[in-house]
Amino acid sequence: MTKENLIPTASPEITRSGGEGAESPSGNGVKRRSFLKGLGVAGAALSAGSLLATTAEASQSRGIITVGDVAILRFLAAAELLETDLWQQYNELGGVQDSEVPGGSGSPAYTAAISFLDGDMAQYIHDNTEDEMTHELFINAYLVSKGAEPVNLDQFRTLPSSKATGAQNIGRLTNLTQLTVDTTWWTRYRSRTGNPDLGDTFAQAVPSLAVGQHTAIPRTDTDLQDANFLQAIANTAGFHFATIEQGGSSLYPQLAQRATSLEVLRIVLSIGGTEIMHFQTWSDKAGNYKRLPTIVDPVTGVPVTFDDLNSPPFGGEDFQTNLIMPEPTAFLNRKLPACSIIRPTKTNGAAMGALKALTADGLFVGQSKEFFKFMRTLAIEADLAVRE
Ligand SMILES: [Fe+2]
Ligand SMILES: [Fe+2]
Repeated sequence: MTKENLIPTASPEITRSGGEGAESPSGNGVKRRSFLKGLGVAGAALSAGSLLATTAEASQSRGIITVGDVAILRFLAAAELLETDLWQQYNELGGVQDSEVPGGSGSPAYTAAISFLDGDMAQYIHDNTEDEMTHELFINAYLVSKGAEPVNLDQFRTLPSSKATGAQNIGRLTNLTQLTVDTTWWTRYRSRTGNPDLGDTFAQAVPSLAVGQHTAIPRTDTDLQDANFLQAIANTAGFHFATIEQGGSSLYPQLAQRATSLEVLRIVLSIGGTEIMHFQTWSDKAGNYKRLPTIVDPVTGVPVTFDDLNSPPFGGEDFQTNLIMPEPTAFLNRKLPACSIIRPTKTNGAAMGALKALTADGLFVGQSKEFFKFMRTLAIEADLAVRE
């Protein structure tokens, strides 16, 4: 498939930098030289930086967005559709039931187990769900307004719903019942020295959640019967909420660095900020989980343990539960002073990295080859985008 085929709609509002035709990222030099030739001697004196600014401003003033901007927004639209799908499943069983987020009827027992982490959990789940719905709708509508193709994942809504009372029985994009939850965000945001962008790795906060497959929602009403197992499911959800939202908190600033249009940059920064608000909320709640001795899933036999994160072998700055804001850490270069930041934010391969992380989480267990092909294509396109 050629690059052109991957962006189905080309309109006068979408440009490849001044309409010079198809270009790969490596073609930028060619484009720059031909642009310089057109500008003559005075233009040749421009620095690359001012030339890029000139190109961006020219596109901006004409209300144009680039193929790269379209690719970034299409990947984000897909990510938001996936987020919406998973949050709707959480809301149907554990959130506030109302017309703003319709579909479910609630599971009182699951909602009560989640409320152990915070009395407002049901409201937060509802609001996070509604936010994702608006992100997805807005980005797709913006793409349409620019003559670009919106993203529709309806053909991939093939995964089963929970059979527990409260959930709708419809096809889903995501699977919340076989999660392998990466809990390293917990230690990553508490480390005062480590940054994944500088090659550092981080310990799991809940090691048993990061192996095997765990359900974060009741699969059937039978899962509600054992109070300890139900609490383990709720604790799992509590950590998974933040795992999802820390991903969004990084993805938006990662892709923002390659947006060309100032309006697209504004969209990415404005939506990205709410992802960070989500993450902050869940980062605060996850540590409130109910400590549990090893609990074994009665269906799969997979164990999980929720230890006291404030006591040895945990505890200290890397695990302390009330450190809910990012500890300052190394940023860009270890010679510079430590800084409180979102991490990672390196832009290279960001979209594919996000897709791989969601896949490794088990969120797509049971999805079709066609789904993965479609998502990979969007990720490749987004990662080819360059700031022009
Ligand atoms: Fe979102
Ligand atoms: Fe989100």
